[in-house]
Amino acid sequence: MIKVTVPATSANLGCGFDTYGIALNLTADFSFEIIESGLIIEGCDPAYQNKDNLVYQACKMVFDKANQPVPPLKITIDSLIPPARGLGSSSACFTAGVLGANALLKNMYSKDELFQMICDLEGHPDNAAACLYGGFQSSIRHDNTWKTCQLPVSDQLCFVVCSPDFELSTKKSRAALPEVLTYHQAVHNISHSIFMVKGLENGDMDLILAGVDDQLHQPYRFQLIDDTDKIRAWAKDNQVALCISGAGPSILMISNHMLDLNEIQDQFTLKWTLRPLQVSYKGAIVHE
Ligand code: HSE
Repeated sequence: MIKVTVPATSANLGCGFDTYGIALNLTADFSFEIIESGLIIEGCDPAYQNKDNLVYQACKMVFDKANQPVPPLKITIDSLIPPARGLGSSSACFTAGVLGANALLKNMYSKDELFQMICDLEGHPDNAAACLYGGFQSSIRHDNTWKTCQLPVSDQLCFVVCSPDFELSTKKSRAALPEVLTYHQAVHNISHSIFMVKGLENGDMDLILAGVDDQLHQPYRFQLIDDTDKIRAWAKDNQVALCISGAGPSILMISNHMLDLNEIQDQFTLKWTLRPLQVSYKGAIVHE
């Protein structure tokens, strides 16, 4: 049996739309077992216990590429990553499926080849890079190739992810974005992204508080996420950096001191789950 463990990831970090991703210490385990016939998928909503399952789709992509049929499989999912909350659950499935298939194919592909496949499945590299390699990754598409580089994060920083009870699909969240942005918005994000990188490296909240400010996606997305006005005002008053985690609806908070979870909880009217998390550097792990 092959087991793959992958981390949750938070993409964008404000100004790094479709570029930045950070891996967090919340994990999902996936096991892959060759069986006599058919396909069995356990540990997810019955609606996804079939060939539409993202883990299976990712497996199939790798076997197709290798010109081999997918063997009869039992896939078991044991995930702490909430689905459709902006914590990289789809990247987790794609990464696990691709790595599981590669292990079943006796490690036919290199890590970089697997990264290309996961990004192709996702369509953007931010969650995928952090999920596969761990840590804080900044990624690009260059010469028809996905590339990523790891950037340092100060261990003085604290991260809290707040997730509401309601879901928000990436499709809906991306549909809220305009087709065209202005030159001013592009300059805003390029300039702020450098502050974010340096701030995260040095644990410098002045740089992070400025750098997290985004013009490319958050102005269009916050309106899709109920119950965030008070927490945004609280974060501003308390020098806590706040951004939408990935496509939402979770929010990521960054500070240079431990945050009082009760105080954060008081800023919400609806039910939100708060998770104090740390950066995870392990990346995706295959246990054979
Ligand atoms: N960068 C992506 C987005 C992350 O914000 O839509 C979600 O897949």
